[in-house]
Amino acid sequence: MNSRIKTSYAFEDVLLTPQYSNIKSRSEIILGQNLIRDNLRVEFPVISSPMDTVTESKMIKTMAGFGGIGIAHRYCSIEDQCKMISIESMPKNYNAGAAVGVTGDYLERSQALLHAGFNILCIDVAHGHHDLTGTALDRLRRSLGDDVHIMAGNVATPEGLRYLADRGANTIRVGIGGGSICSTRIQTGHGIPTLQSVVDCFPIAESLGVDIVADGGIQNSGDIVKALAAGASLVMLGSLLSGTDDTPGNLIQQSTGAFKEYRGMASAKAQREWRGKVGSREGVVSLVPYKGTTQGILEDLEAGIRSGLSYSGSRTLCELSAKASFILQTPAGQKESNTHVYSKGLRSE
Ligand code: IMP
Repeated sequence: MNSRIKTSYAFEDVLLTPQYSNIKSRSEIILGQNLIRDNLRVEFPVISSPMDTVTESKMIKTMAGFGGIGIAHRYCSIEDQCKMISIESMPKNYNAGAAVGVTGDYLERSQALLHAGFNILCIDVAHGHHDLTGTALDRLRRSLGDDVHIMAGNVATPEGLRYLADRGANTIRVGIGGGSICSTRIQTGHGIPTLQSVVDCFPIAESLGVDIVADGGIQNSGDIVKALAAGASLVMLGSLLSGTDDTPGNLIQQSTGAFKEYRGMASAKAQREWRGKVGSREGVVSLVPYKGTTQGILEDLEAGIRSGLSYSGSRTLCELSAKASFILQTPAGQKESNTHVYSKGLRSE
């Protein structure tokens, strides 16, 4: 193998080795955790993406009620984004995040969002290992002080993670080019499979005392368990939460059923709507089948995650990442891993 080319693994390439367990009931498993840098308590390790077809007020409330975090998208006026939270309707001890960019009104926007009741700010850009992100993070830290939880990203490498951790980010979104609606890798040739980025970043994140949010390409609860086992403290979901009742947008009725739109924020359509012009098209627009309640999807994910920890004999997320052992699958193993009903029987007539 040419030493200039490294091998890199995606969720579907790997499986976790089942391990001895003495967990008698899935209720013994604790999915809550305190994040490292600021001790923020999160009961369920799932975050909804700051996208205009995923997270506005309804998603923020449901995610908070379930113990996770919803991040309000930033593709609107400061006033409209602030309206995405209504403190009176939120549960006790909630977490709710709001996204900001790295140019223009981000300082003023951040102050307004914190004032409105959000407790997490998310510096939300496609390429977080960038001077503009570093500058914005420095300025936000200086103006807001150390107590505000700042999530920043996205990055794909340990160098990128260190760049944001050194400037005071508490949690860092890891994953470039893996999103289901993302065409960054096709358009620019850049990216790293999200699982590999998490594996690469974990030792540095641990030594710097920051938490990783695995973001992009998570297709099922098995991928969530793999991301958490690889060292992420939290996962961010777009596709898995798209098409549910709490996402913005109307139902679209077609002869084959009801659908909702789910689109990349860098798709031509989204760019045209939020900034009136189109730059590099790094996302696509899709219609996803209507999936019913967000609550129902979150309950299914939770059942899968709890079961996943049980297969690893782990009662906590910390134990899971400490004990996890991955194997690499061959193509035949991958085929066996997907549900497969034999169509060819042994009888030949
Ligand atoms: P998914 O869960 O695989 O659908 O990925 C969602 C993630 O894709 C988001 O959390 C963002 O990090 C990322 N993303 C959102 N919009 C775009 C886009 O237009 N291009 C590339 N990545 C995107």
